[in-house]
Amino acid sequence: MTLSRRLFLHAGLMTGATLAVSPSAFANGEMPPWHVGYATAPAKGFGPAPMRLVSGKAPAGLAGTLYRNGPAHFQHGDAYATHWFDGDGMVQRISIADGKAVHTGRYVDTPKRRLEMAAGKFLAPGFGTVGDPSYPVSSSNDVNPGNISVMMSGGELLALWEAGTPYRLDPVTLETKGLKEFRSDLKGMPFLAHPKRDPDGRIWNLALNGRTAGIYNINPDGSVASFGMVDIGVASYIHDWAMTDRKLIILVQPWIQTRTRPPFIDGFEWKPEEGMKYLIVDKDDLTKTRWAQGPARAFYHTGAAWEESDGTIRLDAAFYPEPVLGSGGGAQEIRGKLSGYDRPSKLTMVTIARSGDAKLTETDIAGDFPQVDPRRHGLSRKLTAMVTGSVKDQPGGSALALQDWSTGKAQVYDFGSHYIVEEHLFIPKPGGSSEKDSWLIGPAINTRAGRTEVWAFEAASIADGPVAVWQADYAWPLGFHGTWSGA
Ligand SMILES: [Fe+2]
Repeated sequence: MTLSRRLFLHAGLMTGATLAVSPSAFANGEMPPWHVGYATAPAKGFGPAPMRLVSGKAPAGLAGTLYRNGPAHFQHGDAYATHWFDGDGMVQRISIADGKAVHTGRYVDTPKRRLEMAAGKFLAPGFGTVGDPSYPVSSSNDVNPGNISVMMSGGELLALWEAGTPYRLDPVTLETKGLKEFRSDLKGMPFLAHPKRDPDGRIWNLALNGRTAGIYNINPDGSVASFGMVDIGVASYIHDWAMTDRKLIILVQPWIQTRTRPPFIDGFEWKPEEGMKYLIVDKDDLTKTRWAQGPARAFYHTGAAWEESDGTIRLDAAFYPEPVLGSGGGAQEIRGKLSGYDRPSKLTMVTIARSGDAKLTETDIAGDFPQVDPRRHGLSRKLTAMVTGSVKDQPGGSALALQDWSTGKAQVYDFGSHYIVEEHLFIPKPGGSSEKDSWLIGPAINTRAGRTEVWAFEAASIADGPVAVWQADYAWPLGFHGTWSGA
């Protein structure tokens, strides 16, 4: 199998059981129950619609809004999108107040979506899509689906992609307001879908262009404090990165771009002999850098990093033994079929001594979407939450794990075989200070009911099950990442 044919799933990549479904299992065009997570959402979106509390009791003091983003449009007539990642972004908003949850979903109104909806067909090139030669492309924003994540900055809700500029959205109605201009000289600049927020509200992020990484430093009020550049040595696929309170850590995986024609992802070549390179950059002086070397791994997501008093850096991430990128796999789930990939990512701790190289300690937790307490981002901490578990003949993970690095043990809660669990965020409890003074909140699709639910756990005791579950009257498409905005 050539690397470009490697089957790939973003949410399903952690499962060891994503085996090909029998062609006869769902005859006559019938879709498997899990396909509700990959079905095209209505053009008008969803809601606002109340969700029903179906289990437990809403925690006192839990008030705010969970925003999430993910691809949601995969079909024009009988034609499917070429790749799941290239579906138009839809932002989901779940507001929680007085024990009640209300869901709203709206597409990000992009030039790509407008042109394709008017034409009634897919046109734009993309991550896994060649595209129609007639489609006009003068910049990456012409193909920007705004479909990976969201962030709040300076009171604005931004829909993020990784190779283009964020879209501004109304935080209540989710109406798209146009592209974000962080600063006049940064107009049209890319903004990675994994910004990092210091506990004081300062945001850092990367703008990638070949072997150059732009570094955004954004004040808590949304203004740009600085923008600099660093040389990362090679054009690598970089979806996420890591940060301590004093350092930026850019993980340059040996998944090297050798051509730039669409589909984007087929332009990368796996070169394990290069290993993983870690560029460590001083936040206060971007010219102060050093490299550390580690074993070759592929990855999408880090949890977070911290620096110990002796200068040792630790960071956790979901690492794969080999690349899982490729344009083939993203075509399958939206058609109701399963991609097969039997070497899941593992939650891994990376330790980089002050002047040494990177050493890996792998846990037995297979999964992805690691999350940490935002009060401890960049600081020493104990906990990492992650989606895990697998179900035969169903994509995605069915469980939530909470790793405690201080004990080396994890709590795990299995939702059951009729669930696809999504990223769960740490929501600090009002007045709390420790990491366990948090709720873990995220969506899960109940594939038996064909409905999306939002689950809330006590971080101190996730193995005891949820403290509250709200259910929508429908399923909305699986997303990638979210953010929480407190009331
Ligand atoms: Fe991501």
